[in-house]
Formats: sequence, C-alpha cells, structure tokens
Amino acid sequence: QCLPDFERLDCWPEPNASEQACRARGCTWCEAEIDGRNVPWCYLPESYGYKIEGDVRTTPNGFSLTLKRNTTISYFGNDANTLNFDAEFQSNTRLRIKITDGTPRFEVPIEIGAASGGNTDPLYEVQTSNSPVFSFKVVRKSTGAVLFDTSVGGFTFSNQFLQIATRLPTKNLYGIGENEQHSFRHKFDQYYTWPLYARDQPPSYNANMYGVHPRYTVLEEDGSAHGVVIVNSNAQEFITIPSPALLYRTIGGILDIYFFFGPTPENVVEQYTEAVGRAPIPPYWALGFHLSKYGYDELERMKGAVDRTAAAGIPQDVQYGDIDIMDRQLDFTVGARFSGLPAYVKELKAKGVKFVTILDPCISIGEPAGSYRPYELGNQMDVWMKRIDGTPVLGKVWPEDPVHFPDYSKNSTREWWITLIKEFKSLIDYDGLWIDMNEPANFVNGDRDEGCSQNSINNPPYVPGIWGGNLADKTACADHQIEKGSQYDTHNLYGWLESEPTRAGTLAANPGKRSFVLSRSTFIGSGKWVSHWLGDNFSQWDNMRYSIIGMLQFNQFGIPFVGADICGFINPTNATMCQRWQELGAFYPYSRNHNAIGTPEQDPAIWGPEVAESSRKALEIRYTILPYLYTLFHLHNTRGTTVARALWHEFPTDATAAGVDDQFLLGPGFLVSPVLEEGITSRDAYIPNARWFDYRAGTETFVRGRTVNLNAPRDYIPLHVRGGIIYPTQEPALNTVLSRLNPMGLIVALDDNDRSEGILYYDDGESLDSYESGKYYLARYIYENGNLETIVEHDGYSFMSTLKFQTVRLLGSNASRVSVNGKEIHMTKSAGGEILLSNLNLPANKPFQITFA
Ligand code: NOJ
Repeated sequence: QCLPDFERLDCWPEPNASEQACRARGCTWCEAEIDGRNVPWCYLPESYGYKIEGDVRTTPNGFSLTLKRNTTISYFGNDANTLNFDAEFQSNTRLRIKITDGTPRFEVPIEIGAASGGNTDPLYEVQTSNSPVFSFKVVRKSTGAVLFDTSVGGFTFSNQFLQIATRLPTKNLYGIGENEQHSFRHKFDQYYTWPLYARDQPPSYNANMYGVHPRYTVLEEDGSAHGVVIVNSNAQEFITIPSPALLYRTIGGILDIYFFFGPTPENVVEQYTEAVGRAPIPPYWALGFHLSKYGYDELERMKGAVDRTAAAGIPQDVQYGDIDIMDRQLDFTVGARFSGLPAYVKELKAKGVKFVTILDPCISIGEPAGSYRPYELGNQMDVWMKRIDGTPVLGKVWPEDPVHFPDYSKNSTREWWITLIKEFKSLIDYDGLWIDMNEPANFVNGDRDEGCSQNSINNPPYVPGIWGGNLADKTACADHQIEKGSQYDTHNLYGWLESEPTRAGTLAANPGKRSFVLSRSTFIGSGKWVSHWLGDNFSQWDNMRYSIIGMLQFNQFGIPFVGADICGFINPTNATMCQRWQELGAFYPYSRNHNAIGTPEQDPAIWGPEVAESSRKALEIRYTILPYLYTLFHLHNTRGTTVARALWHEFPTDATAAGVDDQFLLGPGFLVSPVLEEGITSRDAYIPNARWFDYRAGTETFVRGRTVNLNAPRDYIPLHVRGGIIYPTQEPALNTVLSRLNPMGLIVALDDNDRSEGILYYDDGESLDSYESGKYYLARYIYENGNLETIVEHDGYSFMSTLKFQTVRLLGSNASRVSVNGKEIHMTKSAGGEILLSNLNLPANKPFQITFA
C-alpha cells in the first residue's frame, strides 16, 4: 500500500532521513520500488494541508478565501494557522494567486506592469476543492486542460519553509533559472532538484548559477502554452516529479504566483514581459561583435587583438576592458600598465569601435585616507551593506584589501554610484558598462573577520539544494542587512538592485544616448535595465551546446539580449572549437568572445587564416541581417516577443520541435543549426513543417517536418530562412558605424502560397527615445500575387532618405520578368532558383513596387 514512486511528496527534505524520524513527524515511510531516482522514502499523507474556512469572498476582480491549518505534521515548526488565499483575474490572459499569512513578511519590491485587455472573458478558470484538504486548479477553458493542480498535496506555509506543488498537464516543461545544464525541455525520468540562489558559479550540473528566475513555461497537449512565475527572492528550489508534477520550495517571503495563458508560446512571453518589463532597444553598435579578455595584462596586447581582428577583415564594434585595466583591481581607476588606455579609447572611437569596461560592486577599504574617492564618498553617504550591529560588512574579492559591498537598495547608494559612473567618464570615455560579481560574489564565506553568527537566519532549519549547502557560501551572511531587508530575503536581488542605478549612471554619463549595461546576476524583470552573458563557461563542446539552452531560457525570461562567452571562458580553447563557436556565436543576440586570465588569447584572428575566415564569414552574415535583428529587438520592446526563439515557439503543435535545443531561430524565420561536436562536417537538423530556403544559396530545402543531414564543412554554419518572411538586410562592414552607411536589401522568401511579409524598424541607433519621439522609420513589406510593395508606416528618420535599397533576393519564385515602379529591369536567376535584383537604387524611405511575372 505504498504510494507509487513517482507520486510522492517528500516529508523529509532535509538530510538524515530515517524511518523513525519520518514516523515521528507523522509521515509514511516506504522504500522506493526502484533505486537511483531520488524517490523520497518519507512522504506526506494525502490529508496533509489546510481547509477552507467560511465562505468564498468576492473581490473586485476575483475571490478570496480563508484557509485553516488542518494537520499535526510540521516540517520545521512555525506553521501559519490562518492564510489568506487571493485569486485576482488581472486580465483575460493573466491571473495572480497570492497567499499570505496576514503578518508582515518580505515581499519583493518589484513593480508589476498593469495587464491590458480587460478580464471579462478569461481564458481560464480557477476551481477550488476542500476534499480531502484545500487545493485549487487552474483550467484552460477552451480545452479543459488542467494547467495547475495543487491536489497533488504538500502545500505548506511556515515561517522559513513554504511549499507548493502542482500536477503538470504535460512533460513539456521549460525554464527555471539560472541553470542550463539540462535539456531545454526538462527531463522527468526521475526527481530532479533545480536550486535557485544567486551564486558565482560556472555552469555545472544542477548548480544554482548567477541569476534567479522562478519562472517556467509549459507546452500543452494541443500546442497552447502557459507561463508561471513565482515572485519570491529567497533561497528556493524547484523539483521535477515524474508523474509529472512540479514542487516549489522557498524559505521565506510569500507565495505570489502569476499565470500567463498565452495561448501561443510567444504570447506567454509577451504577457510575462508586460508584467515584469521589456528590454529597451539596444544601441545599434551593441548588436555588433564584441571582443574581450580578462588578462590582456598590458595595453599593447589589447591593441594587438583589435588590430589582428581588423586586419583579418573581421567586423568588431566593441572592445572590452576587464579588471586588469584597473589600478590593483580598484573600481573606477585605470592602472599604470594601461595608462595609455584613455587615449586609445578615443582612437578606437574615431574608427567606430566602442569601449565597454567593468565594475565590481566591492569597494576596497584599504587605500590611504583621502585617496580613494569611491570609498571616501561611500562612507560619507553611508552606502554599505551592514552587519546586524550596524557596522559595514567586510568581504574579500579582487582587491588586495578587504572590501565593503554597496547597498544598492538605498537612494544614497544610487546617487553615489551614479556620481562615480559620471565622474569615471572623464577618466575614460566608455560607451557601456559591465557589472560583474554581483551575486554578490565573495571569496570568503560571510564576513571576512567575523564569519556568520549562529542564528535562525544564517542557519535556517532547511536550506534548499544550493551549492555549498550554506547561504553564506561565496557570499555575505544571510543576516547582513541592506535597507530593503536582510540578505536572507534580498540576496537574489543584489544584481537586480545594482542594475537600475548602473543604467541610470550610464544615461547620466551619456545624456540622450542609449545605455548598454551587461550584468552577470539577474532577477525577474532585469531585462528592462541590462543584458546578460551566461557567465564563466568552460571551453568545452558541451558548454557550447548549453549556451543555446541558456540563451533560449533568457529569452523566455524577458532578457533577450544574451549570449555566452564565445570559444569559452575557463581553460584554453582550441582552433576547431573556437572556429565552430565563432560560427555559432555570430548568431547569439549578444555576440562576444571573452576568456579568462592565464589562458591563451582566443580572439578570432589569432588562430590563423582558417578560423579568421570562418569567423569573418559568419559575422558578415550577422552584420548583413542586422536590420532584421534590430527590428526583432524593436518588436521585443514594443510587443514583448523573443529575439532568439526555440523552434516550438513557432511550431507549437510539432512534437519533434518541442524537444529541439541544438538549433534555434532568430525571430520567426532565421534558422541556425550549428555544429556542436568536434570533428564532424555534417549534422542532423530538424526542419519544421514550413517552406525553407538555404540562406546562402537561396535554394529551396524541399524537406519539412523531418530531420535531415546537413553538410557543414568546418568554415560553414547551416542557416535557413523560412518562407513567408521578408528579411531586411544591409551590407556588412568592419563595424556598424560603417555598415549603417551601406546599401540595404530585402530577402523575400515565399511561403506555400507565394506570399511573404516583413518589417523594418530603423533609427539613428543611439538616441535614447527614438521611438517615443517618433524619430524612426518603420515599414512593412508585403509580397503577394507577384507584387512586392512597401507600406511606410512611419517616416521619422531623415537619414533614411540617403540610404538605398540596392538588392532584392526573391526565393521560391519562378518569375522570369520584373519591373520596378512600372519599369522593366534586368534580373538574374541562379541555378538554385534564386532571383536576384541588384543596383536598384531605390531610396530606402520611399515606397516602391516591384512586380514579378
Ligand atoms: C568573473 C566574470 O564572470 C568574468 O567574465 C571576468 O572576466 C572576471 N570575473 C574578472 O573580472
């Protein structure tokens, strides 16, 4: 009479389970039928939980209930006896369920955007039950699918242990981060734990990494999708249960759950980002190629990398300075070995190359009195994270001496940080900032001098399965304080709290210009302030593959501007890996090659002609499609859609697509199928059911809904464009300052109905409010019945009139004649069937009509 292995909810999640302890807690002890699947032997009875007390109360947009505890079983004591359960129908596509215990508890200080669209015809309904105990279901009305169902049991609300579990409608579960060493679609063959707690942690199996995104999407049976986010910033974990079910645990705060009902996967991201915020359009230059290295050691080596890259004809828009440019790793300084850097940055900028430099939160306290302004001013303005006795926390990070950690939740800290960022601009004319180590990372556990005291905050009764097993591992103590709360509650918000002030600083330092801030630690909604790289990956083939998963997840998290360190960060890379990684990385939304100190340089030109050529060719394709990529960022900003997109986001009813995570799309139609293994020159790739064309040759693929073997010599990454979409292009150049002057073009790929449609958004690429102030160009291109037409929707960017459309590539047509604005012109047709029009000389901002017959 034991519960089957995969139906159990753990009653002894802490270490040292025993039959006796389990029974003493009031739970059932039963060995697993099969070993090795992390099945709990101690599990809760069905009757565990709360009961509804009294009547349902109608609220302006939903209902609320009172729940009374109805069990004698307690995990760790301090269970809430009475709870308020509140269901708010925020819109037809958004539901909020908030469960509180009526006492003041930590709530994440996040602003959730209002839901649009009204709530008169919700896609969902909420059903409650009181048998055997309270549970609720969230049901999709159109299909009857039960999306969330807590009748699986386990619901707990105690002071330092909160738990809610749901049955899942399918095993198509994606998301939960930051974590990438799993398939994009989670596995359900056993119980897996995915801990979330911001940590300076390279990708490693089931490790909690830099950011915290308690958010998932489920693809339902009929191809509908829904998303769920739990707005909570304590140490926490998700456990996937094979039945399938999902268990969530956190050690503080409240249960504040938002549901987004799509129904398409892209709708889910649109609705999620409507709530948590969308990324602003990046500066155009930031979509170019970035080059970085920790440990150039001296300016000459940085110059060498830049020169090599340009000499090889490889586009580069941005050069980075890591902490080795600083004086003894002190923020806001430039060291002696880089004394020529400020002048060099000016030189770079004259050539069109931008400069981004790094800031760590930790501020050294060891400089001679009066000599280090960040510290002095910080003291004056009282900006530090504090111990419980009110003295500043001491940490140990890069600088020789101890450091303090700023409390970015304070207004004074915000002002201090913005002031320093502004002043720094006169030392070095940077264009963007990179904020690192903001978990916050610490090289000692807790306070450098005092460690952490023994108390229930530093040593809670239950610690989720985080690496190190201790809340202070590689960071501050949980009882260290910032204005908005203890680290216990706010640790996961540290990088998030730093992000807005850093963005504000860059905006103040570059008035009227867009901001570029790259952050390592992120939280729900970070996308509105920062971009993200996937951290200290290893120079390994498997890490190259995980980068796709990380990138797709962050696009679902509303942080579309994301990429991994190309060629890998930790350990030396090698020519073949770097070649393939440059080819893949050319299509990351954020494309940067970066590596660790003490490893050989790995910029794309250093490997000799073959790797350099492959990198150049891949990046030239990136630069060619930049107008398309840029438009995708505009669409993200205005509608919330993703930039890098999983195949199933476009083909949600395709069961094969649901499992693909070694290929991805940019937007709806640009398919990237990279080679991710050593020594192979072809790969199997899935071609979803649509009309596709080879990007380069323009030939029709003629396979669909099937896996095919694609030829991929070492210098070649397979790329396809989907029919039905028009892709705006511009000829590449060594950087975007130059490429933005080049001729534009259109790739018109026809669908099965010989139709195609696309959008171009273009502006000066750097003004802060181009869109808001109407200084942009927006056109729609439609191909139908042999006619390619422009619909200019907005013509507010005057420079557009100097740009020319020179080429049109028409894919999938058998036309033999063409006229432009009524005049017949010459066209060429390739052996593969592509029709090419060149030297069109059409002003880019004027509507044109091209007729094929
Ligand atoms: C850790 C970052 O993840 C890495 O990218 C950087 O190079 C080093 N810190 C040094 O700043």
